[in-house]
Amino acid sequence: MAGLELHGVRKAFKGVQVLDGVDLTVAPREFIAFLGPSGSGKSTLLRIIAGLETADDGEVILEGRRIDTLPPGDRGVAMVFQHYALYPHMSVRENMAFGLKNARVPKPEIDGLIEDAARVLEINELLDRKPGQLSGGQRQRVAIGRAIVKKPKLFLLDEPLSNLDAALRLRTRVELAQLRQRVDAGVIMVTHDQAEAMTLADRIVVFNDRRIQQVAPPMEIYSRPANTFVARFVGSPAMTIIPGKLQNGSGHAAVRLGDGALIETAISRDGLPPGERIEIGLRPESVRVTRDGDVATTTAKVVLVERLGERSLVYAQLKDGTEITAEDSGLSTARSGDEIGLKIDGAAAHLFGADGTGYHRQDA
Ligand SMILES: Nc1ncnc2c1ncn2[C@@H]1O[C@H](COP(=O)(O)OP(=O)(O)OP(=O)(O)O)[C@@H](O)[C@H]1O
Ligand SMILES: [Mg+2]
Repeated sequence: MAGLELHGVRKAFKGVQVLDGVDLTVAPREFIAFLGPSGSGKSTLLRIIAGLETADDGEVILEGRRIDTLPPGDRGVAMVFQHYALYPHMSVRENMAFGLKNARVPKPEIDGLIEDAARVLEINELLDRKPGQLSGGQRQRVAIGRAIVKKPKLFLLDEPLSNLDAALRLRTRVELAQLRQRVDAGVIMVTHDQAEAMTLADRIVVFNDRRIQQVAPPMEIYSRPANTFVARFVGSPAMTIIPGKLQNGSGHAAVRLGDGALIETAISRDGLPPGERIEIGLRPESVRVTRDGDVATTTAKVVLVERLGERSLVYAQLKDGTEITAEDSGLSTARSGDEIGLKIDGAAAHLFGADGTGYHRQDA
């Protein structure tokens, strides 16, 4: 049985369509990350699943039971908000007990649930403190604890780590990964942080333009983006996507760039759309600044060099003015204005048809 199923979920606010026919199936205990630009409807969909918002159309089914017709408290889901609010005058224990007391859970049972959650989250010593006496990360864990005690079938986390500083965020990310092993529930987490989505999620759902653009495991999202939107959105710095001309021939597709360079891809020519117009996608790591002995695929003029320590990013322009992002070693000697050689790894290239559909090498 599937964990969660969404069928044809639609939602408009004041006549503006935000979600337009969302279908999604999540396995039990699966960790799903929702990724997408601001305003793409991620929180709205989470709120629809939680029952804090009503869909205009569609169904939400959890473990075979339709839940979109049920009040939020009866759905078996627990949501942690981006701006979690703990009651400042209550202790951690009281904060965690609050929802359970309202649901008239007997006191001994509440105590047991809180003990269990506190153990999972390692906040036992904090139970008698007030939120004001906790660090940001500890408060975050208490907010997650409040969700855990409800023993939900599904956790809904809306950017749970976004208020934390970088170091704490990383630690809490590790904790979330460990927590995940210990709770018997699925998780859907909204995040703006690609690294978070890549490291935590079993599958990533990419939203844009009212629809789901792709649902796939992290590495597949990265290496086989469904379309130009996903290709540009995932990966930093973004994939260079530039127009080219598909050459005649059979076997692997070869593409001529605007500056005349020929890129031999590892993508089968069969199955590509007809016509010679195509776009080629190159991640920075497959465009290297040449070193001694390298044969250059083409040359470019350096616009800007970013030295990141272990590597450098080189933003450059091909002879026809096309912008391309390349990678060099951390000790790159390239400077803006320099003429450099680029070695392009055609075998790692992606192709995109006129409608944006992605084509990738078979084994990528
Ligand atoms: N209650 C509401 N009334 C009117 N418009 C709303 C309401 N809630 C959300 N919207 C609009 O719906 C769209 C989607 O909002 P939503 O909060 O789901 O986006 P999001 O993907 O979570 O964005 P972010 O990454 O910024 O949190 C936005 O354009 C937003 O302004
Ligand atoms: Mg949001």
